[in-house]
Amino acid sequence: MGNAHTAVAANLQGISFKNGRRICSNVKFEVAAGEFVVLRAPNGWGKSVLLRVLAGWGEEIHGVRVDGEFVFGGDRYHLPLDAETYAKQAKRRIATLFHRLDEESFGVTFGEELEQIQLRYQKGCGHFPEPCQELLDRLAGIGWDTPMDGVAKGLRQVLAVIDTFADVMHCEVVVLDEPTSYLADELFEELLRLLAWAREVNPSCAILVASHDQRFATVGARILRPTAISEHYASRLIVNTNLARFALESARVPNPVGFIVSGSPIAQGRRLAMHYQAALPAGRSAMVTGPNGSGKSTLLLMIAGFFQVRGCCQITTADGAPVRRSRVLRSNLGVVFQEPHEYEFRSTVEDMLRAGPWLPSTEQAEWDEFIRSLLSSYQILPEQQPRTLSSGQLRIVWLASQLGWCSTWLLDEVTASLDNDSISLAESLLSIHVGRGGSVVAVDAHSRANEIKRVRTVLGGNDRCDVIKLGIKEDCDG
Ligand SMILES: Nc1ncnc2c1ncn2[C@@H]1O[C@H](COP(=O)(O)OP(=O)(O)OP(=O)(O)O)[C@@H](O)[C@H]1O
Ligand SMILES: [Mg+2]
Repeated sequence: MGNAHTAVAANLQGISFKNGRRICSNVKFEVAAGEFVVLRAPNGWGKSVLLRVLAGWGEEIHGVRVDGEFVFGGDRYHLPLDAETYAKQAKRRIATLFHRLDEESFGVTFGEELEQIQLRYQKGCGHFPEPCQELLDRLAGIGWDTPMDGVAKGLRQVLAVIDTFADVMHCEVVVLDEPTSYLADELFEELLRLLAWAREVNPSCAILVASHDQRFATVGARILRPTAISEHYASRLIVNTNLARFALESARVPNPVGFIVSGSPIAQGRRLAMHYQAALPAGRSAMVTGPNGSGKSTLLLMIAGFFQVRGCCQITTADGAPVRRSRVLRSNLGVVFQEPHEYEFRSTVEDMLRAGPWLPSTEQAEWDEFIRSLLSSYQILPEQQPRTLSSGQLRIVWLASQLGWCSTWLLDEVTASLDNDSISLAESLLSIHVGRGGSVVAVDAHSRANEIKRVRTVLGGNDRCDVIKLGIKEDCDG
């Protein structure tokens, strides 16, 4: 395994966590210099952990132990023996974009962050490349003096992608974990142009992407499917069957609510640039679309009460009467945040699922069976801390945990990191929820017409689901 034309190769017996849990058993792969490879494996398989370990961050971030070896070109490292030397080498030789956005830029403004990145490009290759500029030109609502932690996640993701390629001249591998998460659909072409630019200026640099995004299959990347995918994943079908088997429709969700918004959010005492005009009667659902930075997540957070508002942001009952938010928040509004790990404070998965839906007693056994098969097929331990779940696992567990509790689900990019089976499971949960009289307000940056149509069908069709289109132009709602 590995020769001078190998950018990176792995031969792993496994990766173990401190609690003894082992993932990525018998994983072998090789990426040649200059190759463009997409790693595809189910939610929770271990892509993110593997990429961090590969990039030399395993010890610091996960406290994991790796058994096996990595090869860079001709250099061979046996782990855990050479772990320290390896980590130093890997950090120098691999440029990375990890899926969860890091908080390193705390306190720095968007403009300052961009300036730093441009300087690095100047030093690295002498100019700020056109594809990077084109990505920036596509963004809506950039506030140059907005502190990075207040910048829309999609804009931060674009900046993080650009940042990753600043050192491309000097590295052997670029590793990207779900780079298209949160990116509006139209930015995919620009991302590809940036990848093409990188391969042009450094033809021996390999690009390794972990992604569920099907579009990568059509653009000439080699799809790498690890052979060691456990048989557990075959049982995902059973999870869906178990869910479909019990008739949750027999219980209705309590107190559906709607909302009326006509105003601007206020963050840290300052009025933000967006102005919203949107209303949704109780029991109806909506899909919120618009370019990166147009304020999709902010709208959800306003409805959930995370922003002060100049104007009106009113929660309404089924007959349109206003209700106090403090009364509805606890039982009516459930939120999946764009980065759910930032907001999940419960100590175990079991705690998340403990509530369960309001069920006729005859259905309790079916529900328990569904949860059991859900956890086992995703290889989730009930005692596991929610923040250690993979991106896809956390979203699925959250949806299951909310069935029957909150009448209105506010979902921010809920399918952003789901594999196909998980998307179909999420859609089953959504459809049961709306079948019980619940409603969903879903934000999705990947808003291709056919996807909007599909999700709209899940949410009850045009009769029960609106599309709220945000934008920066005067003719849009936002
Ligand atoms: N500290 C930990 N203890 C136990 N298990 C853990 C810990 N951290 C992560 N895991 C588990 O390791 C597995 C791999 O997680 P990882 O985030 O790498 O998955 P992934 O393939 O990237 O999934 P996704 O497609 O959802 O992003 C998951 O099953 C996760 O629950
Ligand atoms: Mg991941």
